[in-house]
Amino acid sequence: MFKLPGQKSQEILKRDKKYTSSSYFREYPFVVEKGKGMYIFDVDGNKFLDFGAGFACCSTGHCHPEIVRTIEKQAKTLIHIDGAVFSYPCFVNLAEKLVEITPGSKSKKVFFGNSGAEAVEAAMKLVRHATKRPRMIAFYNSFHGRTYGAMSLTASKAVQRDGFTPLVPGITHVPYPYCYKCSFNLSYPSCNFACIDYIENEIFHTTTPPDEVGALFAEPIQGEGGYIVPPDGYFKELKKLLDKYGILFVDDEVQSGMGRTGKMFAIEHWGVVPDMVCIAKGIASGMPISALVTRAELMKWKSGAHASTFGGNPVCCVAALTTIRLLEKGLVENAKKQGKHLLKALKGLMSKYPIIGDVRGKGLMIGVEFVKDGEVRDKIVYQCFEKGLLLLGCGTNSIRFSPPLILEREHIDKALAIFEDVLRKI
Ligand SMILES: Cc1ncc(COP(=O)(O)O)c(C=O)c1O
Repeated sequence: MFKLPGQKSQEILKRDKKYTSSSYFREYPFVVEKGKGMYIFDVDGNKFLDFGAGFACCSTGHCHPEIVRTIEKQAKTLIHIDGAVFSYPCFVNLAEKLVEITPGSKSKKVFFGNSGAEAVEAAMKLVRHATKRPRMIAFYNSFHGRTYGAMSLTASKAVQRDGFTPLVPGITHVPYPYCYKCSFNLSYPSCNFACIDYIENEIFHTTTPPDEVGALFAEPIQGEGGYIVPPDGYFKELKKLLDKYGILFVDDEVQSGMGRTGKMFAIEHWGVVPDMVCIAKGIASGMPISALVTRAELMKWKSGAHASTFGGNPVCCVAALTTIRLLEKGLVENAKKQGKHLLKALKGLMSKYPIIGDVRGKGLMIGVEFVKDGEVRDKIVYQCFEKGLLLLGCGTNSIRFSPPLILEREHIDKALAIFEDVLRKI
């Protein structure tokens, strides 16, 4: 076991506390110096196996040589010019590529931002603009970001709203298909999707007239809310309901997209084509860029109606194009293969350790939920950190396994050995 945090880490953490926003959360006292592939090193020289990937951003691992080369080359050529005003080849190339790889017809258009929240904000504005309908629906437990619009959709933790109201009006939250803790106390499939029925027969008849609803925003697998996977058939049924009332489906793939679940986009697991897709995190291996991809006929706002100075920055665009090439060349397939093995092994631990209540996931987006709330989960995450494994919590009592997609069997074995050792002793 390491002695953590080391001397240098302690010094930096002291200054971190003094000078940086108190809103940042520090799951454990970890001060990073560098990363390489599946590993990160702290400033004291300790080495950690990374199963968090910088909150699912470092899709190709840390400092993948091809990403580094691409960034270096672009940085020597052109760093910034503002895609809102001037076009350049990698801006258009990336838009064209995203149109090709997102679900649905090839008649789509792309808006670039810098963060997940910015992609969601763009979607909210475009929904209002395109449909002229004022209301939106989102899910309890969802996380869509922390800017005012995105925060108004988000219903994950009270602290994210506390002191910030009033929020954007006209947003109704409904229960997510969280079968492990069903809001209706029913079981799938005999529930017959009571949670969808509730939207039509309760929500639409009481608080939220459907012809005023522009869109429903959904994460195909809830991320921050606990890595919650809806049951098969849910999204098909939901889309039928939305189509019946002319409501758009905005698919927030910020965390689940870019190959993480073993398909380029998680919604593809259920064969549903969204009207808009929000993308960020894993798109550029950790470089800050996001995108909103929509059906072309929806994106008819006037020149100047919406833009972002840095959105689609050239260095980020080339990093995204190289990331997508690496994903297509094998990393999406690897996420599927390694994810299957990891999921099976974690399910095996569930039958051995009764403190685990549920294990669920697709590809390398896997959640382990503990029977008891909070404290046990936090202890496990901390003790794994002390043994050199970086994990992150999600929801109130779950741990997410979201490693880089370059993960190999040896990394899984190593991580599981540490995780089980901690479980055994907790
Ligand atoms: C599904 C989802 N949407 C949006 C966001 C917001 O992204 P960002 O933090 O880049 O603004 C996140 C971040 O975790 C997310 O998981």
